[in-house]
Amino acid sequence: MILPIHGYGLWSTLYGYIAVEENGNDIYGLQFYDHAETPGLGAEVDNPRWKALWNGKKLADEDGTLQISVTKTPPPAGEEYHIDALAGATLTTVGVHNLVNFWMGEAGYGPFLDNLKSGGV
Ligand SMILES: Cc1cc2nc3c(=O)[nH]c(=O)nc-3n(C[C@H](O)[C@H](O)[C@H](O)COP(=O)(O)O)c2cc1C
Repeated sequence: MILPIHGYGLWSTLYGYIAVEENGNDIYGLQFYDHAETPGLGAEVDNPRWKALWNGKKLADEDGTLQISVTKTPPPAGEEYHIDALAGATLTTVGVHNLVNFWMGEAGYGPFLDNLKSGGV
């Protein structure tokens, strides 16, 4: 599934998509198609090496608690829920962390993803 997402970075609103596997929990990838972050800093969201880090990460743990994080240090939940921060672009990173958590959470696609996980349509 390819789900549209957006949210603030440092200088701009980032617009993109997150691709989630049919199980509603495994991330296939993340791609922004529009933003005005600084080349070499926040615009590294477009770097193929950084984007590749998203593939295979999980959104929520076995209890269904959203754990995905985009931070300098891994969360207690572990690396399978963690994408490394962008070097020198902490503020864009915080924006991406926040927007992914918003859209994947209760106020975003969370209920839809929960429904998929429980075998609904
Ligand atoms: C001209 C200029 C452009 C910047 N662009 C960005 C940006 O796009 N994203 C970002 O997070 N930080 C940007 N910064 C840096 C932030 O001000 C801040 O220093 C940085 O996010 C801190 O990251 P760090 O803790 O990883 O060093 C820019 C700084 C300058 C001077």
